[in-house]
Amino acid sequence: MGKSKPTTLLRLVSTVAGFVFAIHLIILYSRNYSVDNLEVSSQSLLLHHHPLVHELERVEQENIHMPPPRKRSPRAIKRKPKRPTTTLVQEFLDENSQIRHLFFPDIKSSFGPTKDGGGNDTSLHHFFPGKIWLDTEGNPIQAHGGGILYDERSKSYYWYGEYKDGVTYHSHKKGAARVDIIGVGCYSSRDLWTWKNEGVVLAAEELDETHDLHKLNVLERPKVIYNSDTGKYVMWMHIDDANYTKASVGVAISDNPTGPFDYLYSKSPHGFDSRDMTVFKDDDNTAYLVYSSEDNSVVHVGPLTEDYLGVKPVMKRIMVGQHREAPAVFKHQNTYYMITSGCTGWAPNEALAHAAESMMGPWETLGNPCVGGNKIFRSTTFLAQGTYVVPLPGVPGGFIFMADRWNPADLRDSRYLWLPLIVGGTADRPLESSFGFPVWSRVSVYWHRQWRLPWGGEKEIA
Ligand SMILES: *[C@@H]1O[C@H](CO)[C@@H](O)[C@H](O)[C@H]1NC(C)=O
Ligand SMILES: *[C@@H]1O[C@H](CO)[C@@H](O)[C@H](O)[C@H]1NC(C)=O
Repeated sequence: MGKSKPTTLLRLVSTVAGFVFAIHLIILYSRNYSVDNLEVSSQSLLLHHHPLVHELERVEQENIHMPPPRKRSPRAIKRKPKRPTTTLVQEFLDENSQIRHLFFPDIKSSFGPTKDGGGNDTSLHHFFPGKIWLDTEGNPIQAHGGGILYDERSKSYYWYGEYKDGVTYHSHKKGAARVDIIGVGCYSSRDLWTWKNEGVVLAAEELDETHDLHKLNVLERPKVIYNSDTGKYVMWMHIDDANYTKASVGVAISDNPTGPFDYLYSKSPHGFDSRDMTVFKDDDNTAYLVYSSEDNSVVHVGPLTEDYLGVKPVMKRIMVGQHREAPAVFKHQNTYYMITSGCTGWAPNEALAHAAESMMGPWETLGNPCVGGNKIFRSTTFLAQGTYVVPLPGVPGGFIFMADRWNPADLRDSRYLWLPLIVGGTADRPLESSFGFPVWSRVSVYWHRQWRLPWGGEKEIA
């Protein structure tokens, strides 16, 4: 490189800066523009400027009246956080809290095709985050730590998750609350609200104690993707022993979305420990495994083999030293996004959104996506933990954020929080720090006590 005079250099720098700034404005404008003008894909619904789409982004406050201070159960005292501002979290973690019904409303307020959840009209298909969600037969849905597959062939959605309808216990003094493996529950729907129980599609092993799926082990966060080359539905899941020392990932396959799935094996991906995980299938059919590794201190990401039954020997370490888990990946306008949680066991913590131009990174952290509710809600992912993000058909930049509100006292009674997630507007981080890098769009998860999809109960979307 030749020497340049200071004035030339200065001019060059300001030109480059101006150019970068102009590009930023164009990106900003085009992203905002595309969000404001909801274009709808060919055969989809006419959602152009639909008021219910804007309704998703309404900021809703949640005022909770705290009960007067009182003596707490020994277990709650042990977990007592230090700062007084976290008293709402204390109440949440206290099984005997007087306001427990606010976090875990009882069966009387349940919602689904057979009950209105207090919304007075089931035909409107309202979601009630945190209330008990019933399937088409009127039973509470059992699909915790779940994920959604949209199946082109049957034009249906499938919700897979941990079937936890068993007794919660501690296998030893220091062990985490657990339910024996029962299996992976599957529910089908054509509108993302009305869910039909398709049964346990991968069941626990009752007798063989050496089997990964023996009931005394751990099966968490099952996710299913379809491989159009092999015609197989492939399930990936976290496989562990009761003490979380096996830290492996398991694979099962089926010819049908409703199973039964054949369990193949578990493995240590790339030779590493693997706990919370997800799989993400990209538009070009490349699938990726994303998992918390190195004792949950780092997230690993790597492509699956063409048949989706293994990992390729390529892996990137991301969010190094950040201790993130519960990854959920989605894509919008060629940008990849991820929501993660911190690592605090069953207790809730702050979610973070991340973005990247490639699945293999580099990944940048955007910040906490939670909007509305109240300060404690926002700093605890609305007292829940993310598990998956589902794209909303016909709503560019519109997604459903799926989370679990864990109930460690009775895990089967853990609740689902489905909330609208919108990608649009500018991220919070200051413009200067992102010079030379893409201007990321904002990722927002909006708190709603009650909400519905833009097409409500009007029609099936699948
Ligand atoms: C019940 O239905 C009426 C009219 O259909 C509506 O105005 C009202 O807001 C509904 N109540 C709730 C709690 O959704
Ligand atoms: C888990 O750890 C406890 C206490 O260290 C031990 O007693 C128990 O045998 C372990 N269980 C398994 C399945 O490794």
